[in-house]
Parts: sequence; structure tokens; C-alpha cells
Amino acid sequence: MTAIRTPAKPAGTAALGLGRTSRRDAWWLAPGVQATVFTICAGYLFVSGILLTPLFNTPYEHQGYLSPLFSPLIRPSWLPSWISPGLLILWIPLGFRATCYYYRKAYYRFYFADPPGCAVGEPTVHHRYKMETAFPFILQNLHRYFLYLAFFPLFFLWADIVPALLQDGRLRLGLGGLIMVANVTLLTGYSLSCHSLRHLVGGRLDCFSCTRRQQVRYTLWQRLTSLNRHHMAWAWASLLSVTLTDVYIRLLALGVIGDPAIHL
Ligand code: FES
Repeated sequence: MTAIRTPAKPAGTAALGLGRTSRRDAWWLAPGVQATVFTICAGYLFVSGILLTPLFNTPYEHQGYLSPLFSPLIRPSWLPSWISPGLLILWIPLGFRATCYYYRKAYYRFYFADPPGCAVGEPTVHHRYKMETAFPFILQNLHRYFLYLAFFPLFFLWADIVPALLQDGRLRLGLGGLIMVANVTLLTGYSLSCHSLRHLVGGRLDCFSCTRRQQVRYTLWQRLTSLNRHHMAWAWASLLSVTLTDVYIRLLALGVIGDPAIHL
């Protein structure tokens, strides 16, 4: 009888040991840059959205411009001054991004090295990865619900464009308004390119052409698919735009910079 030998490790998988690989390209460059940009943006947004105003009373709005971290602005009378009003809304975009399929891939790589890259070895000593079946990562399955919620602040971010472009009944074309329009456009692209939304619109259908309703869903699914192909780009561009929009409005409100504008 011929003995069947089971290989210790499936052929083609990465060598054991953190960073061990036969790859010759700079596989570490993308996760390294992403980790740096993500940490800077997330750290800044945490400080700005939650700590700056309660600790230093730093303003977050200026002449019709409202920081996206505080939209919609909810300031109930019972809210103590040591709690940022941003906290009442930030948990939605935070939950949406933290559970995003793309960001999961990115931060599993650059924060947990699990794995650090395709065909690159993982740490040999680390806790067994239980995937998303155990706490806390089981919470990733809430992404679909954060998607539904994400359209709530997104609606108000579009509404914020009105006071940004209108001042005293006149049209104001200011740099701040243009930045806010760019930001909400990128955030809309990020939300509409979501994998969950694509599945919601076009998934669980056996036939795309059987009824008029299914044909409409198919057309919508095609549109979302073309956005979805660039979900990573939407994710990074919108993260940067939120950060820069908040920085710009904070600096305006503090009087550090002025807002070049044309009034019509
Ligand atoms: S998968 Fe990234 S926002 Fe839904």
C-alpha cells in the first residue's frame, strides 16, 4: 500500500516567520505608506472630533462652513461641555470605516501583519486568528447596518453646502465651499462604491432580466460596480478630504488663514 504524505504546509503559501518571503518586489512599501497616512489621519480626526473642542474650546465652524466631523450639528442642552458634540455623530462614520471590507484588508496587514502581504510570512507567535467569528472582530459583520446609517450624515453634509455657498443672500464661491463640495463628493463616492451596497442592489437575484424591477436593479448594479472597482481609491481620497476639510475650517475659525472667495 502506498502511503499518502501530507505536506506540512500547502504548496505556494508564504514561508513561516514574519516578513519571510521569496518575493523580490518592495511588498512592504504600500502597507508602510498606508500605515503612516492612516495613523496620521485617524489620530488627527480622533483628537479633532473628540478632544480639541472640550479641552481647548476650539471652534469647528466659521461663517457658514461646518467641519464634517460635526455634521449634523447636534448640541442638546443636556450635553456637558466636556463631551464633544462630534461624538454624537462620529460613531457612525467611524463604525462604517472600521468595518469596511477594504480597510479591514489594509489594517489587518499593516497593524496586525496578518499577513503583512500576499505570500509574505506572518508572525510565528501570535494568537490564533479566529476570523470574524469571535469578539471583537465579529463586530465587523455590522458593516451592512453602518452602511444604512452612513447615509444619514451624508445627507446633512450635502445640506451643509447651502450655507457654505450662500452668505447674506449672495452667492459666495470660496475656497472653503469648494473644499466642502469636493469632500462630500468623495464621501458619496466612497459610500456608493461600498461592497455591501453593491450586494444589496444586485445580490440574491437569479434573473436580471425577468421583470422590469430586476432590470432596473441590474442597471443600478452595473453603475455601482463601476464605482466599486475603485473602492480603495475612494476610501483613501475621502479619508484625506475629511481630514483636510476639518483642518481648513479649524484654521479659518482660529483666524490663522483667510478664505479666498468671490461674491456674486
Ligand atoms: S466595503 Fe468599504 S465602505 Fe463598505
